[in-house]
Amino acid sequence: MKRIAILCSGGDVSGMNPALKHFVEYSLQKDLTPYFIYDGFEGLIDNKIKKVSYCDVSGIINRGGTKIGSARSKRFMQKEYREIAKQNLDALNIEMLVVLGGDGSFRGLDIFYKETGTKFCGIPATIDNDINGTDYSLGVDTALNIIKTSIDAIRDTASSFRRAFVIETMGRDCGYLALVSHLTSGSELCLIPEKEYDLKSYEDKFKSEIKNGRRYFIAIVSEGIKQDSIEIAKWFEEKIGIESRVSILGHIQRGGNPTIYDRLMAYKFITYAVDGMLDDKNESVICYTKSGFEFKSIEEVTSKTKELDSELLSYLDNT
Ligand code: F6P
Repeated sequence: MKRIAILCSGGDVSGMNPALKHFVEYSLQKDLTPYFIYDGFEGLIDNKIKKVSYCDVSGIINRGGTKIGSARSKRFMQKEYREIAKQNLDALNIEMLVVLGGDGSFRGLDIFYKETGTKFCGIPATIDNDINGTDYSLGVDTALNIIKTSIDAIRDTASSFRRAFVIETMGRDCGYLALVSHLTSGSELCLIPEKEYDLKSYEDKFKSEIKNGRRYFIAIVSEGIKQDSIEIAKWFEEKIGIESRVSILGHIQRGGNPTIYDRLMAYKFITYAVDGMLDDKNESVICYTKSGFEFKSIEEVTSKTKELDSELLSYLDNT
């Protein structure tokens, strides 16, 4: 029986556990022997590799995070450690590797493929939704739902006082989480790295809204903007004349019970990845776009920075 392994790399997302579950079940169904590699590429180097079966994935579909751990491996960037990684795979006759991660992980993987010929398939998994070539990355929907619940809760207290709340979302240099949350939560202000802004341009509008009875503001800001959230809160106090508070949502956005959408996408990504590898698609990433699932070359996925969906971005002008 051919042997196939899976690992998680980079920031964990809710959806990885459902993906692991389906990986094991689908591999067995396809007469493959599934293996887990623990703690990302670090574990591949340190030989933390285990043959798995159904009992290893029972009771995990509803859990965030990843049962097999994840890591950001600096060692995998060095050739000597990649050689050790290859020896570890060879010792167990593992021929195929599925990697859940972001474009940084895929870049390392591409070098590994070129050096060793190890067949792999990447599955985009990051709450940032910043991987070029795919409209969707595993974990985004759960993160958006966590943000939604947080904003709704903050709105309760914001509307009880006369206050401005600055809510900071993750996303690294990508404003996707902030923008979608803004459009779906009816917040008053959204600041993202992809769009230049001038706070001054909001001053007259916001002040006159207060005069006309507005009691509170919700501002959603992405972590990658040029100012930090405390400065934005100060601006509300000093220029708009309203008491303010800051909520940095932080890592709660990465956890939680995976949504139905993420569970389903996990199922589909894994199915395509395993089928693709059996079909000799040996060096690609399974992407999801408006036209459905398609394999894209690692080159295409990693060669440029993903641009924020222009339609979504255009909506920001109207808000
Ligand atoms: O890439 C996912 C992400 O959650 C980013 O949104 C965030 O900037 C970063 O990871 C946080 O990294 P860490 O978990 O190492 O603090």
